[in-house]
Amino acid sequence: MLSAKSLFQEILDNDESFALFCSIAASGESQGGWENARIAALVPEAQRELAPKITRHGADEDKHGRIFNALMRKRGLKPVPVPPETDYTMLLENKGIGLAHGRLKRDEPLTVPDIVTYLAHSRVTEQRASEQMDLLRKHFADHPDLGRAVRMISNDEDNHLAYCHEELLRLAYAGHGRAIQRTLRACALAEIRVYRDVSLAVMAHMGRILGWPGPKAAVLAAGIHAVYAYERLGGWRRMVSLRTPDRRNALGGPATPEPEFA
Ligand SMILES: [Fe+2]
Ligand SMILES: [Fe+2]
Repeated sequence: MLSAKSLFQEILDNDESFALFCSIAASGESQGGWENARIAALVPEAQRELAPKITRHGADEDKHGRIFNALMRKRGLKPVPVPPETDYTMLLENKGIGLAHGRLKRDEPLTVPDIVTYLAHSRVTEQRASEQMDLLRKHFADHPDLGRAVRMISNDEDNHLAYCHEELLRLAYAGHGRAIQRTLRACALAEIRVYRDVSLAVMAHMGRILGWPGPKAAVLAAGIHAVYAYERLGGWRRMVSLRTPDRRNALGGPATPEPEFA
């Protein structure tokens, strides 16, 4: 039977597919870490109380990158090159979503609208990260090699999502509501397409590595298209809503270290 759990189990059981999975994940996490560190360094004076939270956000993502690399190392595997068509972060940037790397490399303070762009991009992508890690946590929380990593990253992604809700609501009350809604909508509609394309690309690579027969690959591709259809028809709205999170000030302290993975 094809299920999320059996698929992931297959990817996990093969060294080559596991290295590709971890390499893609590690690369996305460390790009996120770099972006957040730059944004923290360029926060405008008017939003300076955000800076430590953005730094913490970046430190968490860097930590996730190190964890995925450590999972490979533990199995004696080396990171493999990330195929460009599976590079979610880069593809989103190419669609003009979030703050461009070129902009972040310049030593020029960001503006409050830039902060809205950053938080809206994070609101949408952290929703995805949080849902994906939740799925992994559901099936692999007790896995002997992966369990701790999955539980830790999943908890962090839930914190990131809570933080985005809280800070966007604060900015909405401060009068940026329309800009926030407009940016969130554009981010979500672009993200669901990029997510579909990346999912198809990742599955194609995994299928080649694991020797999936044509019908199995076809069923998986149909599933990915069905998810996109659902998201395009209205599922995307879950990525743009804002509500006060149960976890308040989720990024208010320093990052929790990952001694067991280092
Ligand atoms: Fe992360
Ligand atoms: Fe995150």
